[in-house]
Amino acid sequence: MNTTIDTARLTQELETLSTFSDVPAPAVTRIVFSELDLRARAWLKQLYSDAGLEVREDAIGNTFARWRGSDAKLPAVGTGSHTDAIPHSGRYDGTVGVLGGLEAIRALQRSGFTPRRSIELLMFTSEEPTRFGIGCLGSRLLSGSLDPATAAAFHDPEGKSLDEVRAAAGFQGSLESVALKPGYYSAFVELHIEQGPLLERRQVPIGIVTAIAAPASLNIIIEGQGGHAGGVTMPDRHDAFLAAAEIALALEAAARSTGAIDSVATTGECEVFPGGVNSIPSRVRLSADIRDIDLQRRDGMLASLERACREVSARRGVVTKIRTINRDAPATCDPTIVETVAAACEKHGLAFDKMVSRAYHDSSFISQICPTCMVFIPCRAGVSHRPEEYSDPEAISRGTLVLAEALAQLAR
Ligand code: HGY
Ligand code: MN
Ligand code: MN
Repeated sequence: MNTTIDTARLTQELETLSTFSDVPAPAVTRIVFSELDLRARAWLKQLYSDAGLEVREDAIGNTFARWRGSDAKLPAVGTGSHTDAIPHSGRYDGTVGVLGGLEAIRALQRSGFTPRRSIELLMFTSEEPTRFGIGCLGSRLLSGSLDPATAAAFHDPEGKSLDEVRAAAGFQGSLESVALKPGYYSAFVELHIEQGPLLERRQVPIGIVTAIAAPASLNIIIEGQGGHAGGVTMPDRHDAFLAAAEIALALEAAARSTGAIDSVATTGECEVFPGGVNSIPSRVRLSADIRDIDLQRRDGMLASLERACREVSARRGVVTKIRTINRDAPATCDPTIVETVAAACEKHGLAFDKMVSRAYHDSSFISQICPTCMVFIPCRAGVSHRPEEYSDPEAISRGTLVLAEALAQLAR
C-alpha cells in the first residue's frame, strides 16, 4: 500500500478554514454556533461529501463523515477532532485532526486500500469552553458522561440556553439521542498539535499519547462590600477584588508547591463588579482551570484552593462560593492502539516519543467508550491558544501519514 499525503492540498485547506474567523489573520476566533462556525461547518461538509463520505450530524452538531467498509456491520474505526477556536487563538488546534483525518482517508482511498471496518471522521462540537463554560461538550454527551438535562440548562454569556442556540443553528432532536451506543467504535485515534514544547525541543516528529491530564474548572464568586473609593477608609473595607487577588495567588502557590511539573493552575477570567475607578469592588467572579496528570495531586490543589478561600474570607470579611464546572479524571490511552501507532511510525521510519498530554481533548471522553490514542505533532515553541500557533506543513503531513497507516491497520 503506497500511501502519500497531499501536503499542498491539506495546507491550503487549513489556510482556508482559518479564514472562517471573527478576527483578522493570523489570529482565529471561531466560537461554536457562531455565523462563521456555521459557514465553516458547511464548507467542511462539502469536503466530506466530495470525498464520497456519508455525512450526518447529531442533535448538538457533532458531525460524522463515514467511509463505508466492506463489512459495514462491524464497529467503525474513528478519527477526528474539533474546529471551534477560542478568542484570538491559532489555526491548528483541533483543525489538524479534522482536516488531517480527512486527508488520511483520502490518501487511503487513493492508495486503493479498501477498509473492512468503516472509517469515520468525527468533528466534535464545542471542544472549547468559551461559549458554554465547559470543555468537550459534544464528546461528553457522545460518551454519556454528561447528563443531557444538565447540558440543556447551560447558557452562554448572553443568557441564551444551549437548546435555543443549537436550534437556531439548525440542530434539532433531543440531547439524549447524542450518546453513542456501546461498541459504536472499535478504536479511535485523534491527530493533534502537542500544544507544548517537548517534541520540538527533542526534535522528534511524532508523539504517541499514553494519558491525558485530568482537568477541573470552576467559578469562584467573592462577595464583599462596595462603596465610595474616597469615603471608605482602608480599615473599614471588604474589597472583593483584593480578596480575589489573594485567592488567585494562592492557587498559583498550590500548583507550584506540588513539586511536580505536571501540576498547572490558571485564573483565566476576572470579572469585577461594579467596575468603576472610584467604586470599591463588591463582587468578583474568577474562573480557574486546574490540571495534573495525577488525580491525587490535582485534587490536592483543589483542596488548597478551598482552604485559601476560607482563610481569605474570614480575614477580609467577604463571602466566597466555589462552583465546580467540571472535575474530570485523567484519561488513559489504550496500550494496543498505542502500539499500533508506534508500528505505523516504524513502518515510515519516523521516530516517536510516548508522552502525556497536559491539554485535554475530546479523546479524554471518547476513551471512556472505546480504545483510544492520540498522535501529536510538534508546534513551534509549544505555543498554542495564540495567533502565533504554528506547525509546519511537513510536520502535519508526517502526522497525517502515521494516522492513515494506523487507521488502515485498525480497519483491516
Ligand atoms: O484547554 C484545553 O486543554 C483544550 O485546548 N481545550
Ligand atoms: Mn484548545
Ligand atoms: Mn484542541
